[in-house]
Amino acid sequence: MRIFEEIKKIQDWCKEQKMLGKKIGLVPTMGYLHEGHLALVREARKHCDIVVVSIFVNPIQFGVGEDFEVYPRDFARDTELLEQEKVDAVFAPSNEEMYCRDSSTRVEVTGEIAEKLCGASRPGHFRGVTTVCSKLFNICLPDLAVFGQKDAQQVMVLEKMVRELNFPLEIIRVPIVREADGLAMSSRNVYLDPEARKQAIVLNKALGETAEAIQSGERDTARLKSRLREIIESSPRAEIDYAEIYDAYDLADVSEVDKQVIVALAVKFGRTRLIDNRLVEV
Ligand code: PAF
Repeated sequence: MRIFEEIKKIQDWCKEQKMLGKKIGLVPTMGYLHEGHLALVREARKHCDIVVVSIFVNPIQFGVGEDFEVYPRDFARDTELLEQEKVDAVFAPSNEEMYCRDSSTRVEVTGEIAEKLCGASRPGHFRGVTTVCSKLFNICLPDLAVFGQKDAQQVMVLEKMVRELNFPLEIIRVPIVREADGLAMSSRNVYLDPEARKQAIVLNKALGETAEAIQSGERDTARLKSRLREIIESSPRAEIDYAEIYDAYDLADVSEVDKQVIVALAVKFGRTRLIDNRLVEV
C-alpha cells in the first residue's frame, strides 16, 4: 500500500493509473476508521481497480469551539486496517499541504439543502466539506467516490455539487453501519461515557418507531415530529439539536408524507453531538 503526503506525488500517480486504464475509487475520510469506513472501502473495491483512501481531519469544516483539536486520530491503526483491506493508496496530507498560507478559495452549495439541519447548526461546515472534496477530486482523479448514508445531508450536498460543477465522477452511497444495539457507527462514539453510550440507542429507536408509524399510515409530519421528539426526550441525557422530516431528495419541507422522506436527527449527549437518519418510503 502506497502512502502519499504530497499532492503532486499522488496526483501524478493517479494520472499514471488512469493512463494504464485503471478505474479509481476514492474514499474520503477523517481517519479513526471503523467498520462504517471499511464498508465504504469494500464498496469502492467492488467497482474499481484502484482504491484510494484519504485521511485528513479537515480544519475548515469545523466551527469555532467544535472538536477539531481533539478529534480522535490513530494513523498507525488506520493504515493497518487499510492494508488488511488491500487498499492501493492512502493520501494523508498535512494542513499546510492542503491549504497554503493564503488559501481563500472555497466551494459552496447554497440553498435549503445546505442551509437546513447541520447547515443551520454548524455554519460553514458544508462549505468546508465541499471545498475539501473538490480538492480531493482534483487531486485523486476518481471515477467514483464513496460516502456513507450516515452523513446523509453531506452526501446530498456533494451529489448536487458534482452535478452542478460537472465533476466527471459518480458518487455512491453506502447504507449506515450500526453497532449490535443499533447505534450508528461514528468516530465520535468514543467520546460517550458509559451512561451516554447506553442512552444513545434512543436515536435508532426513535427513527424505527417513526418509520413504522409512517408505514402504518400516519402522514402528518407535525404529529410524527412531536412523537419523534417525545421518544428522544425519554432519555434524560439527550438534548435535541434537531429532529426533522424533510423531502429525501432536496430537504424541502413536507407537511404530509406523500413521497420518500428523510427523518434526520442531531442529538447531544453532554458535549458529544451524534447524527443519525432514516430514509422512509410511503
Ligand atoms: O465525512 C467525513 O469524514 C468528512 O466530512 C469528509 C467527507 C472526509 C470531508 O472531510
